[in-house]
Amino acid sequence: MYHAITLIEQPCPDILNQSLHKVSELLQLPVMLLYEDLILFNPLFNENEARHFCTGKYGASELFFLKVHKTIEELFEPLIETTCKTLSRFYIKPFTIKKLLKKAIEIYDEIIRSLFSLHLIPVDHFQLFRQYFYSSQKDSKGVSGRFSAQTFHFRILLDGQDLSKIDLGFFSDIFNNAKYYPRKHLNKLISSVQERFLLSPEDKSFLAKNKPGKEKVLKTISELVIDNADKELYALLAELRHKADKFTAVHFEMAHRFIIKPNKLQASDTFSGTGGEIDIEKYLDSRINIHKKIGKLYANLNYL
Ligand code: HEM
Repeated sequence: MYHAITLIEQPCPDILNQSLHKVSELLQLPVMLLYEDLILFNPLFNENEARHFCTGKYGASELFFLKVHKTIEELFEPLIETTCKTLSRFYIKPFTIKKLLKKAIEIYDEIIRSLFSLHLIPVDHFQLFRQYFYSSQKDSKGVSGRFSAQTFHFRILLDGQDLSKIDLGFFSDIFNNAKYYPRKHLNKLISSVQERFLLSPEDKSFLAKNKPGKEKVLKTISELVIDNADKELYALLAELRHKADKFTAVHFEMAHRFIIKPNKLQASDTFSGTGGEIDIEKYLDSRINIHKKIGKLYANLNYL
């Protein structure tokens, strides 16, 4: 059972949840709220129209949390667009690669700053509004950054198939959860995977179902840098990788601060995520390990 549920008795009108049930009753549709409903399509920056579950000071913290999430998604969008566009060119000048790497580092800095700002949320506020993210979906999956297709997309553009060499779990997570991803981001992610990978038969049928098309082999950012064998490019790639890893590390720290630490009574206690993960500590730790291992693969390049 979710530990946060004990907090449900605190006053919180749960407006969004009630409206969701009413609308679904009227339309005779299942009660469902996806990541894209609450983060991407939600007019969060318009005070009168922003949708959230809690009111008062809890609602203010919840709104801040949702806004930061949305800001991060908005930062990823141009980064992914520029990266895809650059990587699809037939010939890419070293100057263009440098420009891309510098831009990506800059954007990642902004993403990390945004993520870090979530420290401002009081832990008890987080625990209160978090429980509403569970309740509104079938399959016991609720709103979670786990369904941020763009976070995975950029990592694939950076490291490509190396991710699957290190841990197939990275891709099975994507394939298993794809139906919860924002549609417009999912289609772009599928194209990028199709364009870069030799896929297993199951993965291929998954992709074929979602977006039939011909496969072509495009490079990843890492491969492009290796092809160019330039010291400055290697250094920039290492810096970008460091930023992407920092995002994962800060994110793990957030899960620790807001979910694990306040609830852990015994070393053996495990906690579920709103995205349906049953042991978040193990799962998020495995993410850090994947990135550490890839970092080691590329570490020697800096000394060439
Ligand atoms: C207080 C802030 C946050 C906490 C406590 C938190 C917690 C979690 C938890 C527990 C999971 C495990 C999966 C599940 O939900 O079942 C997860 C996964 C994930 N979250 Fe968050 N999250 C936070 C903010 C964010 C933000 C702002 C993003 C940005 C889009 C994000 C992106 C992700 C991603 C990509 C995953 C998949 C695992 C990974 O690749 O590391 N999270 N998060």
